[in-house]
Amino acid sequence: MKMQITLTVNGDKYELLVSPLSKLVDVLREELGITGTKKGCGEGECGACTVIMDGQPVSSCLVLAPQADGKSILTIEGLESRDGILDPIQESFMKKGAIQCGYCSPGMILTAKALLLVNEHPSEDEIRNAISGNLCRCTGYQKIVDAVLDVTEKE
Ligand code: FES
Ligand code: FES
Repeated sequence: MKMQITLTVNGDKYELLVSPLSKLVDVLREELGITGTKKGCGEGECGACTVIMDGQPVSSCLVLAPQADGKSILTIEGLESRDGILDPIQESFMKKGAIQCGYCSPGMILTAKALLLVNEHPSEDEIRNAISGNLCRCTGYQKIVDAVLDVTEKE
């Protein structure tokens, strides 16, 4: 049996009928067509599916759709302003070469953004700790850390 939930995604409100066992990542990608959120392991191990839910970074493959009822979700699409201006953290990832294949990037950027929302000037250790659940096979992580540090130096 399906149930009705309400989600606010990137400022837009959606009312949906979902299976109680459906996962937030699948609702975003398949029901809403918001595909910037990537699905990697599907088991909470890689961080590719990270979104910000009510201010907290969460693995959207571990969130059942009913658990997201009434919540406000920020995906990578919502970081960019409505007139197409990238968030400073997105700019910094590009400038520092912190994006290679890009598969980890939406989740990595949102994890970094969630950290910066609560800590404007994180140390390198705090950044590494925050992104420890996000796997990247390409960059070796240093460029990602440098990108986050670079944003904090401008604020
Ligand atoms: S797809 Fe969710 S943590 Fe890997
Ligand atoms: S840029 Fe390829 S997995 Fe991170």
